[in-house]
Amino acid sequence: MNTSKNNYQIAVIPGDGIGKEVMEATISVLDKLNLNFNYVYGEAGDECLKENGTALPEKTLEIIKNSDACLFGAAGETAADVIVKIRQEMKMFANLRPVKTYPNTNSLFDNIDFMIVRENTEGMYIADEESYTDDGAIARRIITKNAEKRIIDYAFKYAKKNNKSKVTAVHKANVLKKTDGLFKEIFYEVAKNYPEIATEDFYVDATAMYLITQPQNFEVIVTTNLFGDILSDEGAGLVGGLGLIPSANIGEDAALFEPVHGSAPDIAGQNKANPIAMMLSAIMMLRYLGENEAADTFDNAILNVLSDADKLTSDLGGSATTLELTNEIIKKL
Ligand code: NAI
Ligand code: MG
Repeated sequence: MNTSKNNYQIAVIPGDGIGKEVMEATISVLDKLNLNFNYVYGEAGDECLKENGTALPEKTLEIIKNSDACLFGAAGETAADVIVKIRQEMKMFANLRPVKTYPNTNSLFDNIDFMIVRENTEGMYIADEESYTDDGAIARRIITKNAEKRIIDYAFKYAKKNNKSKVTAVHKANVLKKTDGLFKEIFYEVAKNYPEIATEDFYVDATAMYLITQPQNFEVIVTTNLFGDILSDEGAGLVGGLGLIPSANIGEDAALFEPVHGSAPDIAGQNKANPIAMMLSAIMMLRYLGENEAADTFDNAILNVLSDADKLTSDLGGSATTLELTNEIIKKL
């Protein structure tokens, strides 16, 4: 087992619904890894709005700012005011969403292993909307050279560091000629700095199909905010569901790790949620902090439990509770 040399302050925001359940499960495993983590809990989400009149109190933002990294569970209906706002406020420009086949998880294919690198600060999710006539409304979508250059460069750096041979840009430049046209242009400009890495670009609609017909061909996908959100849920569907997909939000000096799923009100409070997406998010945090030994230990324990397949949650076709799956993972550490 790993004994961490470094002390870290970790912001913990469980949020709403199953966010709280998967967070508790994840912290109970981290507690067994002998890490020098000081957890500082913050409130955010629907319940927080009811209690405090705001879904994202200043105090919570301060906690994130003062921490080395943040673990986030899920928010409910207030998600846009919470997680989207945190990403923008903390300038967490890169959203990493790995899609990977694990054993016994109803993955549609073997050997899927790609990373979606999603621009996190602009695009459609600036949510700049207004009603412009009685029978319509308008939304602005912003694509800037700086932000797109930064995310595309991040994707190539990620590919290089992780021995990936290809980066795929996803856009809709045939229709959105100005915004996605610019995205595509910048993609090939940045690519010139990485001659050892192959490139290709697809329209987002075709990509939605290729993800089903030939997902093994993808290694790193780089795309804008909304497309990245949609394709990552599709990726989740490919490998067995939202209970398995973690994510990282990375900025210059802030990072937040969260499952891709939401608060799942349909199963909240029933001890049924799959905690693995949250746990894999914590593992991404461990690697971000350089705690690779602890990350490997945690990762292998999850892999062992999935391989045994006798303690799976109901989303994976089993009958184990959140707690039973968690205890099994702790046993395998
Ligand atoms: P969702 O991700 O919460 O749930 C979609 C489906 O997947 C549900 O059937 C749910 O039971 C299942 N599911 C999700 N995570 C699971 C897990 N760990 N184990 C087992 N099954 C799981 O998305 P939905 O239903 O569209 O939204 C519910 C609420 O969550 C909404 O209020 C939405 O605003 C919020 N949301 C928040 C996000 C965030 O905080 N980052 C992201 C997405 C949605
Ligand atoms: Mg989403």
